[in-house]
Amino acid sequence: FKRPKIALIGGGQIGGVLAQLSALRELGDVVMFDIVEDMPQGKTLDIGEASRVDGFDIELKGTNEYKGIEGSDVVIVTAGLPRKPGMSRDDLLTKNAGIMKQVAEGIRDYAPDSYVIVISNPLDAMVTLMKEVTGFPTNRVFGQAGVLDSSRFSSFIAWELGVSVKDVNALVLGGHGDTMVPLVRYANVNGAPVMELLERKYGDANKAKEVMDAIVERTRKAGGEVVGLLKTGSAFYSPASAAIAMTEALLRDQKRVLPVCAFLQGEYNVNDMYLGVPAIIGGDGVEKVVELSLNEEEGKMLDNSVEAVKKLLEDMKRLGFL
Ligand code: APR
Repeated sequence: FKRPKIALIGGGQIGGVLAQLSALRELGDVVMFDIVEDMPQGKTLDIGEASRVDGFDIELKGTNEYKGIEGSDVVIVTAGLPRKPGMSRDDLLTKNAGIMKQVAEGIRDYAPDSYVIVISNPLDAMVTLMKEVTGFPTNRVFGQAGVLDSSRFSSFIAWELGVSVKDVNALVLGGHGDTMVPLVRYANVNGAPVMELLERKYGDANKAKEVMDAIVERTRKAGGEVVGLLKTGSAFYSPASAAIAMTEALLRDQKRVLPVCAFLQGEYNVNDMYLGVPAIIGGDGVEKVVELSLNEEEGKMLDNSVEAVKKLLEDMKRLGFL
């Protein structure tokens, strides 16, 4: 028997939390790759030196060479650059697509049997590029966004209603951007529709709708809200937790139903494109996309999101990456 091996490509803010959570949960041995010399070695040494205190039997290593990821079962990718002042969207897309292409080649060559979870933004484009360059089957290449977006949506609902977030089920579909689709109609607290609970709380359907509209808007802009407060970077604890939930579902064959960026082939009337949808995540990666019926309004919002992702993919084509 061997412990699973988890490779982290990118040892920045999210990469660091991924390494620590993997160790704390004893998900597998960790190798952190980064282009910055010594940094991944230092970060993993630091986390590893807490092994006695935290009580984990996990090996952590840092590397600056792709050879170090050989034999990895799961690869989680956070490599990329944040947008700097003065940088256009195209500049950022070109930079990050260039990085992603390099990373995908490294994974293809050194971890050809791995399952790949992409976190780097713009997510829907980066996952698509990862699939194209590695040539891996689509069940082995997917992206993290929906677990976090849905967790944010659920947290805001729980905070508004004053109930445990453990009892809230709320789902966000679509691309990872302003057009994402928080599904209000399906949101519930242990089965009780959230809208009904809000109407009871306020005794007024209009007020309940107003409150929910604000929650939806906050969910869509949640990434920006954190950036605005941090000022020096973007969210990193919650994206790491979200990707760890996906990794755990995969390594422990949990068959969890998680919203992930998955490749669609006809589901939700979308063909040959990555999009955020609920899917069964188990030992074979994205095992099945779970289809929900959408009403006209929800369908329109999803169409809008599909258009936004298509636009992003067209930009990638125009820039020569797809
Ligand atoms: N190969 C490997 N790693 C790289 C490369 C490359 N070609 N280029 C940059 N990196 C590394 C950087 O050295 C840095 O350590 O990627 C890491 C990114 O870390 P941070 O800048 O701290 O970013 P983080 O907050 O972790 O977010 C990473 O996830 O949520 C998304 O939008 C976010 O795209 C961003 C990504």
